[in-house]
Amino acid sequence: MNSITDIATVRVWLRDARAIAVLTGAGMSAESGVPTFRDAQTGLWAKFRPEELATEAAFRADPQRVWDWYASRREMMKDVRPNAGHVALAEYQQRHPGRLTVITQNVDGLHQAAGSVGTLSLHGNIFDDIWLDPCAGAHGFGGVCDVSRAQPGRPPTCADCGNLLRPGVVWFGEMLPAAALAAAEDAAQTCDLLLVVGTSGAVWPAAGLAHTARQGGARVVVVNPEPSELDGVAHALLRARAAAALPALLAD
Ligand code: OAD
Repeated sequence: MNSITDIATVRVWLRDARAIAVLTGAGMSAESGVPTFRDAQTGLWAKFRPEELATEAAFRADPQRVWDWYASRREMMKDVRPNAGHVALAEYQQRHPGRLTVITQNVDGLHQAAGSVGTLSLHGNIFDDIWLDPCAGAHGFGGVCDVSRAQPGRPPTCADCGNLLRPGVVWFGEMLPAAALAAAEDAAQTCDLLLVVGTSGAVWPAAGLAHTARQGGARVVVVNPEPSELDGVAHALLRARAAAALPALLAD
């Protein structure tokens, strides 16, 4: 059972928790000015079809369109700044070393920019460039072409083998980075309290971490001004925005 609860109750739970994990989604960065995906009016997936932009098949079908869309998102994100929620998490980690693990689905790098240590980025980083295909042969050091030497273009290409650069984000149907996912599963399994902040809980395996934490005996608290698919897993719901709730929750 869960109920809409107050910040004071969750602060007591946080004080009692030896290990804390925080799973964040696009709502975490909403107050930094980054649009979410599933908001009915402003969400990216309200305006664009994800299968045309966020899959490997879409990129192979129209690399320029997909590259340009991610380039415009990079442009939009390059000047955004961490909000009070990101800062509260980072400062808590500094005051309580080793106690709080940040697991994020966000690709904007704002937890890292705020100074969070050991952030587990499940969906990559939008500012990274990676090759679309594995390099076929002896192109440069270790048989791997150097992404920094790609020829400019939309997308940039490898002069030796024609490989295309793509953004280093996880697209639908792709595996999550194995080491980050394993560390996130471990953090969820072993934490005493999981805060689920600003995610619809619609995308797996990230959403499964809330179930893992609950099954592992942790208290699960959802921080979201709207209902989410993870409300049923939570012991408590805080109907609040991330940038307001996290500084209040993590003041100790
Ligand atoms: P969604 O857009 O699905 O959900 C955002 C959530 O944030 C919603 O539940 C909102 O109610 C909530 N929200 C909005 N403003 C908030 C605020 N100020 N404070 C707290 N919560 C707020 O975004 P994600 O759950 O992150 O995948 O989506 C998961 C994945 O789907 C993304 O990582 C992305 C997308 O396709 C990849 O890029 C691989």
